[in-house]
Amino acid sequence: MKICNTIDEIRNHVKIIKKADKSIGFVPTMGYLHDGHLSLVKKAKEENDIVVVSIFVNPTQFGAGEDLESYPRDLDRDFQLLKSQRVDFVFVPSVDEMYNKAYKTYVDVEGQITKKLCGSSRKGHFRGVTTVVSKLFNIVAPNRAYFGQKDAQQVAVIEKMVRDLNFDIDIISCPIVREEDGLALSSRNSYLNSKEREDAAILSKSLFLAKKMIENGAKEAKEIKKFIIDNINTVDYAKIDYVEIVDAKTLEDVNTLQGDILIAVAVKIGKPRLIDNIKVEVK
Ligand code: PAF
Repeated sequence: MKICNTIDEIRNHVKIIKKADKSIGFVPTMGYLHDGHLSLVKKAKEENDIVVVSIFVNPTQFGAGEDLESYPRDLDRDFQLLKSQRVDFVFVPSVDEMYNKAYKTYVDVEGQITKKLCGSSRKGHFRGVTTVVSKLFNIVAPNRAYFGQKDAQQVAVIEKMVRDLNFDIDIISCPIVREEDGLALSSRNSYLNSKEREDAAILSKSLFLAKKMIENGAKEAKEIKKFIIDNINTVDYAKIDYVEIVDAKTLEDVNTLQGDILIAVAVKIGKPRLIDNIKVEVK
């Protein structure tokens, strides 16, 4: 496994890979890897000749007062995990390498898709994500890029950006990986103390119960949202940011459920703000 810290270094390898007509699968990450990330790496390994993983805690997607400084980092452990998965290249640039002092260019997907859900409480977050992902796509030039469905809105925004800017890259969205009690894996779960960790399972439990409710015939978004909110509020210190039911593709609000819908939640449990979602096909 080769570790590259500069854009020139990884670009030289990419040139050689392309010359040999080999495909590149790319897994962008912010590090502190868990089994969710590794499931993306495994899929990328299955579908491509060469796998590149990036580790970069991207400052432009963090707002003021968010956890940029305290975001968990453990590069040595990440390298070990990636080595065990037989990853070919890891791109680990510094902040200066990605954003020099004169940096001025941003990629912004406009409209509700970036304004609602996480976009409404994390202003500028998706602008940072689409900017860094565009830069990484230009540097790594992958055939396929792999993202986790836990960040369903991020996937929808990146798919839109790829269509709008004509990136010749397939976006592969992979299923959420969960702990035994249902908690979706996230690097931010490491902020939870043991009581919070136990209580955090309320997010997925509420989503699974809501799915059952829909399967049993419930159709009104308002009623299902209330059910989820009441469930989450059984954890008295949980602070709900949003509980939304939207069209799975466009992320537009739905009132009466029909077709593929996404139920998405964001909740503060102690320090971290956790997100989770579930897709339901409504007949
Ligand atoms: O999902 C993440 O870890 C980040 O948002 C990403 C896609 C690596 C961009 O920084």
